[in-house]
Amino acid sequence: MSRGLLLALDQGTSSSRSIVFDHEARIVAMAQRELPQHYPQAGWVEHDPRRIWADQLTTAREALDRAGATPADIASIGITNQRETTLLWNRRTGEPLHNAIVWQDRRAEPICARLRERGLEALVLQRTGLRIDAYFSGPKLRWLLDHVPGAQAAAERGELAFGTVDSWLLWQLTEGRVHATDVSNASRTMLFDIARQRWDEELLDALGIPRSLLPAVHPSSHVFGETTLLGGRSIPIGGMAGDQQSALFGQACFEPGLAKNTYGTGCFMLMHTGEAFRPSENGLLASNAAQPSATPQFALEGSVFVGGAVVQWLRDGLGIISSSGDVQALAASVPDSGGVMLVPAFTGLGAPYWQAEARGSIVGLTRGTTAAHIARAAVEAIAFQSAALLQAMSRDAQPIHELRVDGGASVNDLLMQVQADLLGIPVVRPESIETTALGAAFLAGLSCGVYRGTAELAALWRPGQRFEPSIDADERAARMAQWERAVRQTIAP
Ligand code: G3P
Repeated sequence: MSRGLLLALDQGTSSSRSIVFDHEARIVAMAQRELPQHYPQAGWVEHDPRRIWADQLTTAREALDRAGATPADIASIGITNQRETTLLWNRRTGEPLHNAIVWQDRRAEPICARLRERGLEALVLQRTGLRIDAYFSGPKLRWLLDHVPGAQAAAERGELAFGTVDSWLLWQLTEGRVHATDVSNASRTMLFDIARQRWDEELLDALGIPRSLLPAVHPSSHVFGETTLLGGRSIPIGGMAGDQQSALFGQACFEPGLAKNTYGTGCFMLMHTGEAFRPSENGLLASNAAQPSATPQFALEGSVFVGGAVVQWLRDGLGIISSSGDVQALAASVPDSGGVMLVPAFTGLGAPYWQAEARGSIVGLTRGTTAAHIARAAVEAIAFQSAALLQAMSRDAQPIHELRVDGGASVNDLLMQVQADLLGIPVVRPESIETTALGAAFLAGLSCGVYRGTAELAALWRPGQRFEPSIDADERAARMAQWERAVRQTIAP
């Protein structure tokens, strides 16, 4: 008898992972491979598409093995992925024409500058919810068509396929039979009309992108195809979503006003905003949430460029801790930062400040400042940046009553407590912080009848630890004002 398990493929920036979940959303087995990064020039970041696929397939097989499962035990597969990363391949041979251009890669900036000069910012914001930026797939695809010899002509003859990592994995799993994506990934291309849920002709024209390159777009919970590559029996691929929207889904944030923050190298904060699209007025991005059905759903998003990376800098740059895990003890050895504020604008500041040229600063040093104060200020900086994002979200949409958290750095209790203090709302860490993969498993389970609806999923989301605010509103306002002062000093010293 089938065990009704769900297999999530989580293809992230630094690793490819596969996780088998049971019906109660518990992890049965997992496997992982680190993904090599390629930096051909300053500001460029690439991944090898073949390596992405090979590692993903290997980890899927390993996870099944470790779960003692056969394909017959897997009810459905869900895919979640690093978003925006752009691939181009030949439809007949399946050969990639170039390495994948990773979301962090800045090479398409001159293409974006031209779009801004043509006055397209308002159109892009209204249709896609995004700012014109080299982060998104559309400009990266334009760069590929310009720089890979013969690519534009081959695209016009209908010989090529464009996709983000979800589409690439789906194409491989279905052995070239299905070229599709989901709305949450499409909404990060800067080519997708997120309210009407279709590729936008005007934006395709503006970037000179032939329509034949594009994948079909479906809701995130949908039977996209099936695969026999995990063994004889075919398994449906029942869900796909970009990793941040998948985490929002895995955190059971199905209602407007529910929000999550993922604390990784950077931080990604997303809030569900319901079924009505309104572009941000506070420097945030709007995108499609992971959609269980064809009804459009939206999310606001803000990211902190340097989150956990500031802890790596304490370790590798300053050498004041020997492993990242040591930061909590050092920061907690002092009651506060002693007036020190650290603004880790190592690569500029993102939402809500958008100061690409800003660089980091440490202010408030005294003769009494110690490494512990600096470590504390670094941990607090992660929370301050996230608090500024959440304030911007509340201004755009509605007040938020609780923040759900995940990602590697969410295990730091001190950081979570400081976060609750600065936000003035509870911060809730679920029992399992593997919410990105869980979101994909939920989406896959919904389309294949394992789950009946989001109410059933909400009951499977299990809170682990809850951090309540421990300072009053006046102190919170004073601390945020101190942060904003430090940011102003950083932007205009
Ligand atoms: O937008 C980029 C994001 O999807 C990458 O996430 O977790 O793979 O670094 P991650």
